[in-house]
Amino acid sequence: MTTLLHIDASARDGRSDKTSHGSHTRRLSARFVQQWLSLHPETKVLYRDVGQKAPPPVTGKWIHAAFTPEHAREDWMKEELRMSDVLIDEVLCADLIVAGIPMYNFGPPAQFKAYI
Ligand SMILES: Cc1cc2nc3c(=O)[nH]c(=O)nc-3n(C[C@H](O)[C@H](O)[C@H](O)COP(=O)(O)O)c2cc1C
Repeated sequence: MTTLLHIDASARDGRSDKTSHGSHTRRLSARFVQQWLSLHPETKVLYRDVGQKAPPPVTGKWIHAAFTPEHAREDWMKEELRMSDVLIDEVLCADLIVAGIPMYNFGPPAQFKAYI
């Protein structure tokens, strides 16, 4: 079975075809996923909204934890890495990634950079 990871990164919630001031990239990514599902209905879809719920930025504690070998990690390190482990597992599961990413000041939103 194909797994599709659908990511939205706009700071605006709502889609521009549904609400005034809604997001165009949310509308476009949803449209792509809808079309894909009409052709491949057996696809499993995972959804991640980094625009509305940004992952925390990299911290010194996170780096310390990530660069400690897995067998030597203390409990606080595992806790520190919990969220990024969930996000990485989603990417590893995905056969296809569909990302709606606006351009802010000639680059991706800070929320999306935090995700990357
Ligand atoms: C803070 C901010 C910065 C932006 N910077 C750029 C830019 O550098 N280049 C560009 O082409 N559009 C820029 N835009 C326009 C957005 O890319 C455009 O409004 C897009 O539709 C936003 O995505 P959304 O509709 O999914 O929220 C900017 C918009 C905002 C709010």
